[in-house]
Amino acid sequence: EWTPEAFVDMTVNELKAQIGDDKVVLGLSGGVDSTVAAVLLHKAIGKNLYCIFVNNGLLRKNEFESVLDQYKHMGLNVRGVDASARFLDALAGISDPEGKRKAIGKTFIDVFDDEAHRIQDVKYLAQGTIYPDVIESISVNGPSATIKSHHNVGGLPDYMKLKVVEPLRMLFKDEVRRVGAELEIDKELLGRHPFPGPGLAIRILGDITPEKVRILQEVDAIFINGLKEWMLYDKVWQAGAILLPVNSVGVMGDERTYEKVVALRAVESTDGMTADWVNLPYDFLQKTSNTIINRVKGVNRVVYDISSKPPATIEWE
Ligand code: XMP
Repeated sequence: EWTPEAFVDMTVNELKAQIGDDKVVLGLSGGVDSTVAAVLLHKAIGKNLYCIFVNNGLLRKNEFESVLDQYKHMGLNVRGVDASARFLDALAGISDPEGKRKAIGKTFIDVFDDEAHRIQDVKYLAQGTIYPDVIESISVNGPSATIKSHHNVGGLPDYMKLKVVEPLRMLFKDEVRRVGAELEIDKELLGRHPFPGPGLAIRILGDITPEKVRILQEVDAIFINGLKEWMLYDKVWQAGAILLPVNSVGVMGDERTYEKVVALRAVESTDGMTADWVNLPYDFLQKTSNTIINRVKGVNRVVYDISSKPPATIEWE
């Protein structure tokens, strides 16, 4: 029988044997998978694990600063790199979802590479790839049409020539969380919803501007904090807000407005492969909608997504 305790023991021993005194570089994303992978490796090789946490400018509000702090408190050897401007430049004028993923993936590799080159004699690249990532990448490359080019799998620049270490590649998400608990990683961090690598870029339909990112960060923070206050956060597998590329007419005082529409999405799932929309309480939706429209300038309408996967996907892009 699989237990997190046995998995940690076995994996730490294997990592020690495999890596020895060599150096490993790992990209932290703020998510559960890369964090658990980092703590496992840290346990095995200590300061020879060099973590890089890149701010792509498409994270949730205040996320970069607060998560970087948490990583430092956990004793990880981590460098935070704010590359927001570089990502926003690379994304300028791109509306196509796959085009966004490609631009972000390429920029991430460039930024990561620049940072990795500062570390002398690094031999390994560690990644928090989990089993569903492996499966979905296989289907991306398979004959049955493209799903999505998940940028956190594969796509290594040739000249880095690093050997890849993926200690979680046989685990499902719930198992990763159990391993994280075994490693005494903060409960709140372990309970975090999944968040896509391309971040808010694929929740801003159409082209991306700093103003749209700011609007969506505000809306998303109201929604997510609301879920936490109403004790709904842990009942939901993933949630977020989507900024739609349309304006709608509204009214404020005696004036007509013509402003943005946002969609809220919350789903239940076990692995993201299938998902059902969550029946959130009307009282919560009403309160959240009012708060968003009152507080976030530029938004005058909120809708709730009641589509399940399949045939819809969790993200809108
Ligand atoms: P979909 O939208 O395909 O999403 O139903 C399934 C899960 O995958 C996440 N997702 C991504 N994660 N890079 C990622 O790292 C991506 O390009 C990407 N696209 C979707 C999504 O947030 C959900 O958890």
